[in-house]
Amino acid sequence: MSLYRRSFLAAALLGAARAHNIRRLSRCQALVYANHGDPSRVIQLKNVDLRPVGPKDVLVKILAAPINPSDINMIQGTYAILPELPAVGGNEGVAQVVEAGGRVASLQIGDWVIPRDAGSGTWRTAAVFDEDDVIAVPRDIPLLAAATLGVNPCTALRMLADFEHLQPGDSLIQNAANSGVGQAVIQIAAARGIDTINVLRDRYCTSLPFARLSDRLKALGASHVIKEDALRRPDLEELFKTCPKPKLALNAVGGKSATELLRHLQVGGTMVTYGGMSKQPVASALIFKDVKVRGFWVTRWKRQHSNGAVRATLAELCALLRQGKLSAPACAEVPLSDYRRALDAAAQPFAAAKQILIT
Ligand SMILES: NC(=O)c1ccc[n+]([C@@H]2O[C@H](COP(=O)([O-])OP(=O)(O)OC[C@H]3O[C@@H](n4cnc5c(N)ncnc54)[C@H](OP(=O)(O)O)[C@@H]3O)[C@@H](O)[C@H]2O)c1
Repeated sequence: MSLYRRSFLAAALLGAARAHNIRRLSRCQALVYANHGDPSRVIQLKNVDLRPVGPKDVLVKILAAPINPSDINMIQGTYAILPELPAVGGNEGVAQVVEAGGRVASLQIGDWVIPRDAGSGTWRTAAVFDEDDVIAVPRDIPLLAAATLGVNPCTALRMLADFEHLQPGDSLIQNAANSGVGQAVIQIAAARGIDTINVLRDRYCTSLPFARLSDRLKALGASHVIKEDALRRPDLEELFKTCPKPKLALNAVGGKSATELLRHLQVGGTMVTYGGMSKQPVASALIFKDVKVRGFWVTRWKRQHSNGAVRATLAELCALLRQGKLSAPACAEVPLSDYRRALDAAAQPFAAAKQILIT
């Protein structure tokens, strides 16, 4: 976008912000829950008050916010951290600054921002955030990529970088390979010359059958896509004639699936568990291989690292987005007002796309 058009837009936004102020933008619409339970029953669209914009605050318009499994678990009351109730759902998304307090130094009207931490309640049309609770992201990346940048791609990049020293030609194995995290892992690994062995649940009578999903993942850069039951068959050894045994296993499922990943790891390799979608425990097949079993939680990683480290991770991801080496996961855009449809779709197995609430 030309400089002229950018400044025109910024001026228009400023005008809009002032106009809003005259009408006193003191309320917004939000998806609120007062009790834990089934999201499509406990979530309600409500008008909620916005706190006044303080000197270090920004007023933002939320542009797009995904529905992630952790959002669902938070509403169900089963997640590791829970907000005080009533709460607004949603932990990530992209927003645009429409007003900035007098002492805000790092942000300008028109900037795109994403939350720094979990728990900000992004399923809403507008919000007032402390300047330090958001991070600016470039506006030349696709909107859906920005809305889904802060959690899944950060998780993927950190898990690829922080546990094993992976070099071009090495391989990793992951389950839930079609998840948002899985799609980011495939693309970042491919950009680094790392082979990926991608495991999917078998799927029958779904809108996106195995063969088409496999093609979709291969188009992203997946080296191998296999069904979960193939992990148990001896002919998988054929694959390891052309591809080294994985140094790293990424587990978002648990139960038998995790045990099978462990069986195929290199001696001394590492399995990182970051999710438990099957709700089954991770069984232990650890005895003969001296493998290391680790955990990863991007929220803890962000809390333990400086703004500079978080920004550097985001900058690396934005560079990949600009180079066309990383894209948003497959997404379905749904208006905020149609939230029940989005929540129902997000709860279905074998979903073909991540639900993104658009305000
Ligand atoms: N630790 C962290 O920092 C961190 C960060 C981000 C995400 N996560 C976790 O990572 C996981 C994936 O998140 P996401 O946003 O990438 O997911 P997503 O895009 O919503 O995709 C969900 C994935 O889970 C699979 N799945 C659902 N139910 C399953 C079951 N019963 N058994 C096996 N697989 C099942 C789905 O496979 P089908 O297509 O076969 O249904 C799909 O691959 C979640 O557990 C999430 O909480 C953790």
